[in-house]
Amino acid sequence: MTRFHVCSLSELPSGEAKRVESDPAVAVFNVEGEIFALADQCTHGDASMADGYVEDDCTVECPLHAARFCLRTGKALSQPAYIDLATFPVAVEDGEIYVTVETAA
Ligand code: FES
Repeated sequence: MTRFHVCSLSELPSGEAKRVESDPAVAVFNVEGEIFALADQCTHGDASMADGYVEDDCTVECPLHAARFCLRTGKALSQPAYIDLATFPVAVEDGEIYVTVETAA
């Protein structure tokens, strides 16, 4: 397990996402002050979920073929994706965001 510093909370406004270059890469999202971390690579293809479209209902839409995933659970909500995204623990401490990742190596 490795803990990564993502950024300051002030650097990740609501509706935005940031990619963490861990292995696997992680996409961290802010939805109205709630922070979520999911696998960055779409389970359908080679797309970065950090480049996706964050919706108010706490979902993200893949930028490539528009599959939607729940940011809370990683669940694949629409085709063409049917495999869920992995989720990762996040913490906000003193205004800084951290994510814990079980790294591949
Ligand atoms: S790559 Fe994400 S839906 Fe196809």
